[in-house]
Amino acid sequence: MTFNAFSDFAMTGHVALITGGAQNIGRAIATSFSGAGARVVIADLNGDLAKSTAAEISHLTGNPVLGIKCDVTDNEMVRQTVDTTVAKFGGLSTLVNNVGWGATNDDPLDVTDDAMIASYRLNTLSALRMTQAAMPHLLKSENPSVTNSGSLVSVLPAFDFIAYSSAKAALNHLMLSLAHAFAKKARFNTVLIGTVLTETYAQAGLDEKAQQALAHPDNLTGRSGRPEDVANAFLWLASPAGSWVSGQTIQVSGGPRRVRLKPE
Ligand SMILES: NC(=O)c1ccc[n+]([C@@H]2O[C@H](COP(=O)([O-])OP(=O)(O)OC[C@H]3O[C@@H](n4cnc5c(N)ncnc54)[C@H](O)[C@@H]3O)[C@@H](O)[C@H]2O)c1
Repeated sequence: MTFNAFSDFAMTGHVALITGGAQNIGRAIATSFSGAGARVVIADLNGDLAKSTAAEISHLTGNPVLGIKCDVTDNEMVRQTVDTTVAKFGGLSTLVNNVGWGATNDDPLDVTDDAMIASYRLNTLSALRMTQAAMPHLLKSENPSVTNSGSLVSVLPAFDFIAYSSAKAALNHLMLSLAHAFAKKARFNTVLIGTVLTETYAQAGLDEKAQQALAHPDNLTGRSGRPEDVANAFLWLASPAGSWVSGQTIQVSGGPRRVRLKPE
């Protein structure tokens, strides 16, 4: 057997559906997969941005990219998105459940039903519905996989981010179960992403100081994450290079946080 990093990371022949791919991390994943030879569909709530991003990526890589509007919390739109992907590219082999976000909270005792349910629908249930719709097509494909945008906060205490962190923790568990349910047939992994500063943080009300405190503190690389740092992990997991990896949560976060017994 010969080892060839170029072909091991190639996505030639793959059809990849990436939710929330119009900007930031999802856009970087779409760019990475397209550059590696996949035909890509970007499904995003912002249909116009999905289309313009798709055109830009296709121009860059020379491979076809389709941008379509989809609300991943709408089951009918989820089914239509999968149907459109298969109609356009003749199959679906690689699903990336990238959509996610959630409200912060002050007192954990005040977290509402609405916040919990909305976060679960967006971060967890949407990934299940998308997987259910995609699965019949994935099972007909070579090296099929589902890879999810998880979060480091799903495995850390996050008492002012209860709805989001608990929904992402449920996503980890859901994908672990699916990996076993479809053992030997399809692979399921979740990338636990650390802080990648985007405009979303400012929109959520975090000022510059709060963003820097969140981004750096004690990571081992000395810098914040970039969307492409994360996208490279997705490429590994979806490509032939990742074909021995399933049922995993993999941190891409600049390194684990430390415990210090003595005061600094
Ligand atoms: N940025 C970070 O620091 C960070 C850290 C940990 C985990 N993550 C996770 O990574 C993923 C991507 O993060 P990001 O910062 O690039 O997000 P982002 O908010 O910049 O982009 C998300 C995209 O999803 C789309 N979207 C939102 N709701 C949607 C819906 N209902 N249906 C379809 N599309 C929808 C948006 O239009 C947008 O294009 C998310 O799951 C997020 O939770 C991000």
